[in-house]
Amino acid sequence: MNTILVAGASGVLGRLVVQQLLQRGVSVRVLSRTVARASSAGTNDRLTQVIADLTRPASLTGACHSVDAVISCAGASMNMKAMGDRTSFTAVDLHGNDALLQEAKRSGVRKFVYVSVAGEGPYEATEYVRAHRQFEERLAASGIAYSVVRPAGFYAFLAEIFAMARQGRGFIIGDGSNRTNPVHEREVALACVAALERSESMIQAGGPEIFTRRQIVELAFRVAGRTPSIISVPPALFSVMTSPLRLINPRIHALLDFGKAVSTADAVVPVYGTERLEGYFTALRDGSAV
Ligand SMILES: NC(=O)c1ccc[n+]([C@@H]2O[C@H](COP(=O)([O-])OP(=O)(O)OC[C@H]3O[C@@H](n4cnc5c(N)ncnc54)[C@H](OP(=O)(O)O)[C@@H]3O)[C@@H](O)[C@H]2O)c1
Repeated sequence: MNTILVAGASGVLGRLVVQQLLQRGVSVRVLSRTVARASSAGTNDRLTQVIADLTRPASLTGACHSVDAVISCAGASMNMKAMGDRTSFTAVDLHGNDALLQEAKRSGVRKFVYVSVAGEGPYEATEYVRAHRQFEERLAASGIAYSVVRPAGFYAFLAEIFAMARQGRGFIIGDGSNRTNPVHEREVALACVAALERSESMIQAGGPEIFTRRQIVELAFRVAGRTPSIISVPPALFSVMTSPLRLINPRIHALLDFGKAVSTADAVVPVYGTERLEGYFTALRDGSAV
C-alpha cells in the first residue's frame, strides 16, 4: 500500500492512525473540513491534505485519486465541546461515509477500513450505533474489499471522568453495574493499520480488563487520590431530564441517549489491546499522557 487516505485524521483516533502510517513509511492523504484541522494531523513530506466535507459529496470529487486504501475514522464527534455542530450522526456516520465509499469505488481504491463501534442490543437502538451499523451493511454490500474495526470505548473518552474525579466529583447513570472493557485508542489505531493487510471483514477491539461502569469511576478516584463521591441518576430520571434536548439540539440528545444505553447494557468486546486503564489515568495525573 503506497498512499492511504485517512478520513477523520484530525480526530482522537485518526491522528494516531496517521502517525502509525507515517512511521511505516507510507504516504498519507488526510481528509478534513478545514486546513487548520487537517494541519493538526501533523506535518511530514509524505503527508498531503484534501479539504472536503463528507456531507457535501461534490467536495469529495478526486479525493481518492491514486489512493490505494481508505481508512475512515470520520464520524460526528462524541465530544461535548463539538456539539455546536448539530449535524446528525446519521448524516455524517452513515450518509457521509457512504459518499466517501462511492468516491473510493469510482477511483478504484483497493481496500476500505471503517471504524465502527461495538455494542449490541440497546446500543443498536440508539441513533449513534445504528448509523454505524447501517454503514457497515452498505460497505459489506459494496463489492469493495473491506474491514470493519469495532472498538470498545476509547480511554480518551474516559478522560473527562478522571478530570471530574480530580475535582472530587463522580457521576453514573443507574447503579453502574454494567460491564465493559474500554481500550486505548493507540491500540485501536494499530488495529486499523493492521487491517490494511488482513482479510477479516470484522476486527473487534476491546481492552484487556473488564470493569463495571462504577469501577471505572472508582479507579479514577483512586488514581486521583480522592475519596469517591459518586452521584447516581436513575435511567428513567435521566431520560426525563434530557428529553427536552431532542427539540433544542438533537445531536446532544442522541449522544445522551447513547449514554443511557451504556448504563443499561454490557458492552464486552473481544480483547485486542494490552494497555491498562490505570496506566492511562496515571499518565493523565502525571501530565505524561501522549
Ligand atoms: N470515542 C470513542 O470512545 C469511540 C469508541 C468507539 C468508536 N468510535 C468511533 O470511532 C470514530 C473516531 O472517533 P474519534 O473519537 O477519534 O472522533 P473525533 O475525535 O470526534 O473526530 C471526528 C473526526 O471526524 C471528522 N468529521 C466529522 N464530521 C465530518 C464531516 N462532515 N466531513 C469530514 N470529516 C468529518 C472530523 O474531521 P474535521 O473536524 O477535521 O473535519 C474529525 O477528524 C468515530 O466514528 C466514532 O464514532 C469512537
